[in-house]
Amino acid sequence: MTRPLLTSALAGMGTTIFAEMSALAVETGAVNLGQGFPDTDGPIEIAQAAADAVLSGRGNQYPPGPGIPELRSAISGHQKRFYGLDVDPETEVLVTAGATEAIAAALLALLEPGDEVIALEPYYDSYAACIAMAGATRVPVTLRAPAFRPDLDALRDAITGRTRLILLNTPHNPTGMVATREELAAIAELAIKHDLLVITDEVYEHLVFDGEHIPIATLPGMRERTVTISSAGKTFSFTGWKIGWVTGTPELVKAVRTAKQFLTYVSGGPFQYAIAAGLALPDAFYADLAAGLHRKRDVLAAGLRAAGFEVFLPQGTYFITTDIAPLGESDGLAFCRRLPYRCGVVAVPNAVFYDHPQAGRTQVRFAFCKRDEVLADAAARLAGLTVTPPGPPAEAG
Ligand SMILES: Cc1ncc(COP(=O)(O)O)c(C=O)c1O
Repeated sequence: MTRPLLTSALAGMGTTIFAEMSALAVETGAVNLGQGFPDTDGPIEIAQAAADAVLSGRGNQYPPGPGIPELRSAISGHQKRFYGLDVDPETEVLVTAGATEAIAAALLALLEPGDEVIALEPYYDSYAACIAMAGATRVPVTLRAPAFRPDLDALRDAITGRTRLILLNTPHNPTGMVATREELAAIAELAIKHDLLVITDEVYEHLVFDGEHIPIATLPGMRERTVTISSAGKTFSFTGWKIGWVTGTPELVKAVRTAKQFLTYVSGGPFQYAIAAGLALPDAFYADLAAGLHRKRDVLAAGLRAAGFEVFLPQGTYFITTDIAPLGESDGLAFCRRLPYRCGVVAVPNAVFYDHPQAGRTQVRFAFCKRDEVLADAAARLAGLTVTPPGPPAEAG
């Protein structure tokens, strides 16, 4: 075989590091703060609704391609309730196999080989993979510590005649940056001026502690050029159910649906009923979710600071990005490979989320969507970090 396989271009990306770090966590019995999933399930009434759907035979056979009407209506209601957006459940909503499929289907549908996509790096690893699978080129605009604000001049400079779309993620994984109205307005102005599409990944929309989540689709002139993606996984703490969705104009949603049809066609029938019920939960549910995670963020941040990390306090999401330079460390990947041996905690190096790994070389990400006792345990273990431990093998790093 003479031509390199596409997979060789994807192999170094984040997913491989999650597998490696999770295996290390199992091997060493470490507290796993690597991958972002909660260690408690979501509301019992949503779980019950899924069980009821299975047992009463709702959704056990292929659901409709765009998603069951109940869920599409609930998604439309959610967009109206939280953002004042009018979304037609018939033509402007598509249910997907998690946000991950929505991202893949949107990029495959909207990109042609040779197109350029501007994305804020560090980025969620599926972006780079899906842009590559669409035959397009990613053009990173780097978010820099300590605040990780979007560099609007760099974004402007990144636009060329081949730019097709801007891929946004707010609240942003892994930095926890939440884009402001002014930043979004500047991005919108560029998108309109250069006739670009925007795909916006808003899976952490309800996990905001400082600031406010603003969908870019709510800005003037943006509804018609924006594909908005979200997911039930983070909002309802059922990440394994993989119920996500896309909203946008009928034309854009139809394009995404055409690609989605040949990826999974449909998925998660009974879970769709359950998430429709979840989306009807009162505002207090959403407020409590954010308040609980806010507290967890502060607990882990305090533990990390006490252990000597520089902490970049996130405005939203499940994640805290830290800098390990104050610990005398210079390589996040090597540090993360040794950390379970040194103190029994697993984290992930942010470098894997960058095209320019140098930019994130000393950054390490910790997830705080864990039970209080797990976070307390992790903080206690991290406190022992400076103590020389009984031997990680030197080659482990
Ligand atoms: C930014 C971002 N987008 C999308 C996803 C995937 O969402 P889902 O589990 O619904 O596919 C994640 C999950 O970690 C994420 O962090």
